[in-house]
Amino acid sequence: MVEVKHIIKSFDGRVILNDISAIFETGKTNLIIGQSGSGKTVLLKTIIGLLRPDSGQILYDGRNFVGLKKRELNVLRREMGMLFQGSALFDSMTVLENVMFPLDMFSSDPYKEREKRAMFCLERVNLPDAAHLYPSEISGGMMKRAAIARAIALNPMYLFCDEPNSGLDPKTSLLIDDLIHDITKDYKMTTIINTHDMNSVMNIGETIIFIKEGVLEWRGTSDEVISSNNKALNDFVFASDLFRKVKEIEGQEQEKK
Ligand SMILES: Nc1ncnc2c1ncn2[C@@H]1O[C@H](COP(=O)(O)OP(=O)(O)OP(=O)(O)O)[C@@H](O)[C@H]1O
Ligand SMILES: [Mg+2]
Repeated sequence: MVEVKHIIKSFDGRVILNDISAIFETGKTNLIIGQSGSGKTVLLKTIIGLLRPDSGQILYDGRNFVGLKKRELNVLRREMGMLFQGSALFDSMTVLENVMFPLDMFSSDPYKEREKRAMFCLERVNLPDAAHLYPSEISGGMMKRAAIARAIALNPMYLFCDEPNSGLDPKTSLLIDDLIHDITKDYKMTTIINTHDMNSVMNIGETIIFIKEGVLEWRGTSDEVISSNNKALNDFVFASDLFRKVKEIEGQEQEKK
């Protein structure tokens, strides 16, 4: 479980995150949603320690990230897997070498073992046949899967994904969502995902926080999104045509009853 308490973060006197508190549960896909510019990436970067909050706490299963000593911090870093916007594979390395990269950096296992682990991860994301191809030789969805294999190579307890579906078609997005959801369950990870994709919200929103202009506006689950009366959340959700239609049909069915 990852818990953030009263996070405040500003840049040049401009408050970007205004007193955010939230719990991200173990074994679940926890979503951070909100419009472009609402502060999702800043929050995620703050949680993983790329940005330092002005104040507030970030607790990884009780360990306060901000106060950790260097050695404890190194242990924690190894427990974190990341999937950034874009897949950020190294162009000069094959898919297999990309997946082996964190193992080469952090593991003292012999080469054969590292290769075996990387192949296992590639099989998990259904990509073993692409092991010896370069990123330029595979599709966007395959790159994303390779990046997921790399993110789970060190068997992380925590997985962070910033817009994992950006640039993918709807069907491939669903596959990636399902994959992230399934590995979260398989490895009982605490997974935190930034998204503004409503399909993901409905598909894998086990816990959801909705941020508007740096303020936590709403929290709930995918089941509660549609029935919520929160005006700002509704504006966000029903900006998508599909959901406006769903709401209309629901309304008509209510009238019939
Ligand atoms: N390093 C920085 N210095 C100054 N301002 C920043 C910095 N990083 C982000 N911001 C500002 O913080 C606000 C929130 O940005 P953020 O990237 O978190 O939005 P987001 O919700 O992730 O949007 P998107 O959905 O487009 O990715 C924006 O106004 C942005 O300009
Ligand atoms: Mg962002």
